[in-house]
Parts: sequence; C-alpha cells; structure tokens
Amino acid sequence: MNILNLYYSSTGNTIKVAEKISRTLEDLGHQVDDVQVSRETEVDVLAYDRVFTGSGVYTWLPGRPMQRLIERLREGYAGKGLIKPGAPRIGKGAIIYCTYGGAHTGVNEAIPAVKYMGQLFDHLGFDILDEWYVVGEYNPARMRNMSTEGRLGDISGRPDAHDLAEVEQKVRGIMLA
Ligand SMILES: Cc1cc2nc3c(=O)[nH]c(=O)nc-3n(C[C@H](O)[C@H](O)[C@H](O)COP(=O)(O)O)c2cc1C
Repeated sequence: MNILNLYYSSTGNTIKVAEKISRTLEDLGHQVDDVQVSRETEVDVLAYDRVFTGSGVYTWLPGRPMQRLIERLREGYAGKGLIKPGAPRIGKGAIIYCTYGGAHTGVNEAIPAVKYMGQLFDHLGFDILDEWYVVGEYNPARMRNMSTEGRLGDISGRPDAHDLAEVEQKVRGIMLA
C-alpha cells in the first residue's frame, strides 16, 4: 500500500502528531512518504492508496500553505477531468487530522479546517476513513492565556504523551480495519 503523510505545521504541534503517525505506520511494516507542506510543495495525492493529511487550525481553517496547496491540487485535478460529478469512489482512503486550541468555541472552531481538507479527497473519490481532532497548545508567548483560559481549560503542553498514545492507537485501529 502506498501511504502519504501530508501535513502543515506552523508552531510544531502538528509535527508531533505527524511523526507519531509515520512512526506507527513504520512499526506496522508500512513505508510512508512524509511531506511537510510549504509554499513550494508539489505532490500527487492520487499516486497513493492511503493519505493522512493534517494541519494546525488558524482562524477555523488549515494554515495558509495547506489551503493554497489544496487550491492548486483541486485546480490541477479538475483541469485533468479527475474531479467528476457525483465524485465516484476510487477505492482509496484518507484520514484527516488537525491540532487545535479551541479557546473560543472548542472543537467547533476546528471542524471547518478538517472538513475543508477532507473535501479535496472526497471530491477526488477517496473515502474519508476518519477525522482526528488533537488538542494543541497556543505556542506564541503573546497567546499564553489562550492555553489556560479557553473553552478547553488548561491545555498547556499538549499534544502530550497521552494525546500521542491515543493517536498511535487510532493509527493501529485504522490500519488493521
Ligand atoms: C495565530 C494563531 C491562530 C489560531 N487560531 C485558532 C483557531 O481559530 N481555532 C483553534 O481551535 N485554534 C487556533 N489556534 C491554535 C492552533 O491551532 C494550535 O496551537 C495548533 O496545535 C497549532 O498547530 P501547529 O503548531 O502544527 O501549527 C491558533 C494558534 C495561533 C498561533
């Protein structure tokens, strides 16, 4: 199975989750291509049977470089006629994940980011196998209070070992399914 782990991380939280995903996949005997998204990233997601895609959440959406990549990919695939009416299934699977702080409205402000990323894959005909919301502290010093006074309470230090252990279990579960 060809597996891609495609992720964007601005302050390092999503990198921790992405690394846990890839290490777990390798432990299970799979080979994984890791692609950390930047402004220059080019990737053919259709070359893979299974794609893990994640980002930190910024104003309810994935980070800009991930948004732009999704726009470029959608445009390119649409131009080649690979985004079809009815979005017929192509026998491939995507897992969409995010890290988020949820200071204002909890998980509700992360849902648009995950749905946004997932729509590229759903349009291409991938089945969305799961969506993972992992809590991530606000790293900039000026935002410290967001990590302690928000809707989710004190989220300092997250994603922590417990969060990452949960990610590992989810990866194992989805790959054994
Ligand atoms: C400038 C900024 C804006 C953010 N906006 C949101 C937001 O709208 N909703 C949310 O749930 N978390 C928000 N967060 C928290 C991040 O999503 C969280 O820290 C995430 O784990 C960052 O991932 P990264 O380090 O991989 O980029 C924001 C963080 C920063 C620094």
